[in-house]
Amino acid sequence: MSTLVIVGSQWGDEGKGKITDYMAQEADVVVRSQGGNNAGHTINFDGKKFALRSIPSGIFHSNIKNVMANGMVIDPKQMLEELRSLEERGILNYQLYISGRAHVVMPYHQRLDGAYENLKKENKIGTTKRGIGPCYADKANRIGIRIADLIDPESFSIALKNALEIKNKELKMLGEKEYTFDEIYEEYVEYGKKLKPFVCDTSLLLEEEIEKGAKVLFEGAQGVMLCLDHGTYPYVTSSSPTGASVPLNAGIAPQNIESVLGICKAYTTRVGEGPFPTEIHDELADYIRERGHEYGTVTKRPRRVGYLDCVALNYARRVSGINYLALMLFDVLSGLDKIKICYAYELDGKEIYTVPANLKEYYRCKPLYVEMDGWKEDITKVQSYDELPQAAKAYMKKIEELTKTEIAIFSVGPDRHQTIRLKDIF
Ligand code: GDP
Ligand code: IMO
Ligand code: MG
Repeated sequence: MSTLVIVGSQWGDEGKGKITDYMAQEADVVVRSQGGNNAGHTINFDGKKFALRSIPSGIFHSNIKNVMANGMVIDPKQMLEELRSLEERGILNYQLYISGRAHVVMPYHQRLDGAYENLKKENKIGTTKRGIGPCYADKANRIGIRIADLIDPESFSIALKNALEIKNKELKMLGEKEYTFDEIYEEYVEYGKKLKPFVCDTSLLLEEEIEKGAKVLFEGAQGVMLCLDHGTYPYVTSSSPTGASVPLNAGIAPQNIESVLGICKAYTTRVGEGPFPTEIHDELADYIRERGHEYGTVTKRPRRVGYLDCVALNYARRVSGINYLALMLFDVLSGLDKIKICYAYELDGKEIYTVPANLKEYYRCKPLYVEMDGWKEDITKVQSYDELPQAAKAYMKKIEELTKTEIAIFSVGPDRHQTIRLKDIF
C-alpha cells in the first residue's frame, strides 16, 4: 500500500506523533492536513525528545517531503520559532512545503479565543487558546487571511485592512484591546518573507507523488471525538480530524486513501471540558496519569483519565473509516489487578452502543464494563506479541472483538523502538 492515514481515535494525544515518526521510516511524504499548533506531537528516538506542534512528524528524515496542506491553520510566528528550535537541535536538512491555501492564525484570533472562553464562564470549552477556533470561523466567514496573501505584501495589506475592519469591532464589543494596522503589518510581512520559499501548490505536489507511487502518510491532529462534525459538540476543536476529511484538507482524490490507522490509547484521556463517560476520579486515575505522564504537551494541563471506551472507539471507527488500530501506552497498564473496558452505555435504562448527539443524554450515559484480569509484568521491553503476558493478550483480543477492528501495531513505551508491528499496513 502506498497511502496511510493516521487518525486519533479518541480525544487526542493518543500517540499520533510517535506512530507517524515510526511509519515515516518507510515514507516518502508526510502530510499534516488539519488543525494547527493546538496539536502537540511527542517523538522520542536516539535518546532525544521532540514536541512538534504544527510541523509534520516526518521532519527528522531528510529524504521525506513534509507537507502542511490547505486544511491547516498556521501561526507563522509560532511555526517559525518551532522551525528555529528544530534547527538549533541539528535538524537542518529537511524538506518542507506549505500550501498557499492554508489559513493564517493572526494575533487577534488568539485574543478572541481567550475572550470567548472568558465569556462562556462555566460553559468554557477549555481550548488551547491558540486562536484555532476564531481562525477557522474567519475562514468559514470568508474574512480569513491565507498563506498566499501573507507572502504577497500587497495582498496582505488589503486582506489585513479588511479583516481589521471587522475584527476590531468584534474585539471592541467583547471589551478587548483593538489592533492597529501598523502593529501587525511589518512584523507579519517579515514572517511572510521567511515562509515564501516553502510555499507551493501542495495538492499538485501530492498528485505527482501519488502518481509516482510514493509512500504518503497523512498525520492527523486531535482525535475523532474532537471532530467539529462528529465529536462531542460544542466541546470539540474547529476542524475535522477524521480520515474522511483528509481528501478535502489535502486536495487529493478520496480514492487515493487506501487505509486508515486509528491511534488509540490502551485507556482514555481527555484535556479540556466536555463529556467523558468512562472518566475515573480515584487513585487509579493518578496511577495512570503518573505512569503515562498524562500532562498536556501544549498547555501542560493534567489530562483527565478513564477506562478504554469501546463505544466511543467503535463510533470513531464508523465515522472516520478506521480499518486498523494501533494500541498505544500499553505498558502504562502494568501493575493492575483488574482493568475494565466499556462495551456499552446505559441510557435511561436502555443499553446503547453508540454516542448520542444530544449532550444532555451523553452526560446521562453510564458505562457498562467488562472486567478483565490485569498483569503485573513490565512489558516495556517486549518485542513481539508472543512475549506479552496472557492477560495483556486477552485485553487486546477483547478490544478487537468489541471494535471489530484488527490491532496492527502495539506500543510499549515512548521510544521509536518500543513499537511492535503485527501487520504490514503501509
Ligand atoms: P499525539 O498528540 O497523539 O501525538 O500524542 P502526545 O504526544 O500528545 O501524547 C502521547 C504521549 O505518550 C507522549 O508523551 C508520548 O511520548 C507518549 N507515548 C507514546 N506511546 C507511548 C507508549 O507506548 N508508552 C508510553 N509510556 N508512552 C508513550
Ligand atoms: P493532538 O494533535 C488533545 C482540545 C482542547 C479543547 C478542544 C478545543 O496533540 O492530539 P482548540 O484549541 O482546538 O479550539 O481546543 O480541543 N484539543 C486537543 N486535545 N490533543 C490535541 O491535539 C488537541 N487539540 C485540541 O483541549 O478541549
Ligand atoms: Mg498531543
